[in-house]
Amino acid sequence: MTAWTEWKAAAEAAENVKETVHQRLQHLLGIEPLTVEQVTFFLDQAKPFQEFQRHPLKKLATLRGKTVALAFFEASTRTRISFATAAARLGADTMNLQAESSSLKKGESLIDTVRTLEAMRPDGIVIRHAASGAPEFVAERLGMPVLNAGDGSHEHPTQALLDALTIRDRLGRLQGVNITILGDILHSRVARSNIHLLSKFGARIRICGPAMWMPPMLESLAPNLCRVPRVEEAIDGADVIMVLRVQTERLHEPALAESDYILRYQLTPERVRLAKPGALVLHPGPMIRGLEIDPEVADGPQSCVLEQVTNGLAVRMALLYHLIGGAPADAPHPAKERLNAAD
Ligand code: NCD
Repeated sequence: MTAWTEWKAAAEAAENVKETVHQRLQHLLGIEPLTVEQVTFFLDQAKPFQEFQRHPLKKLATLRGKTVALAFFEASTRTRISFATAAARLGADTMNLQAESSSLKKGESLIDTVRTLEAMRPDGIVIRHAASGAPEFVAERLGMPVLNAGDGSHEHPTQALLDALTIRDRLGRLQGVNITILGDILHSRVARSNIHLLSKFGARIRICGPAMWMPPMLESLAPNLCRVPRVEEAIDGADVIMVLRVQTERLHEPALAESDYILRYQLTPERVRLAKPGALVLHPGPMIRGLEIDPEVADGPQSCVLEQVTNGLAVRMALLYHLIGGAPADAPHPAKERLNAAD
């Protein structure tokens, strides 16, 4: 191959990646079906939006005239506010459905509710639902982009993308990171999406938590994944420790005393010291201080908790921009243009 044909082949391959990223991703239902290129594409696209958060005027006109429906059938604080703020900063309007105050309480079915929203002609819908697979069910029936904001214990793709952005920024890479995920793995969509994402980059994943919160087929989720019962051993030499919320509503099925959990699994400063120096501590929130995490760790220099929240905004802006705005993959980036104009 001559240098020219080689260059042409590489350029074509890059174009194909852009095309594939753009054509295939009509919805964001999970991390599992994404390619490494697609994940990398969205993380790269989030970067200028991340910088844009520091701009004094935080509003673009990119999605002006578009409407994003936010259908949260399950309680949420940070994810709902993050999507609403991301939409607003892109200039879009939002339609808000909140489960507690909606007709769901009166017995309306999921599909009737989302069809009602659809009849008001939004340009895309963000869904959180307690049933695994609900966003996919909706995507098959509606003619608009669907973004999964957390479905049951299945996936929480935007959480995994914002976690990945945080790790990549701090460690400079995702390839081969050594991560420990601590807590209730069985019920955690955050854990599943993170396992799918990080294993695509060859991460070494150690899982630790009470035996009854470990899914039986855990190892089949990803290569390079192992369960380690003792927390000290699980954390030893880790680059990243991801702590999950103890879902107190589940502590009693079967019974596990809070004091037992604290003793055996809480992330304490002593345990953090077993990880690599400067290892990152991640938590998706909401955090129960004093239960899964010691307040000293939550507020310590290694904690990335608030950075994760800020990064969530950037990641969701990138996803709304591409999925709802339908921008070509190689279009000039709107946040970059604004930042350059401000220089
Ligand atoms: C998580 C969720 O809802 O899945 N929170 C979030 O979206 N940041 C985790 C949890 O509730 O424990």
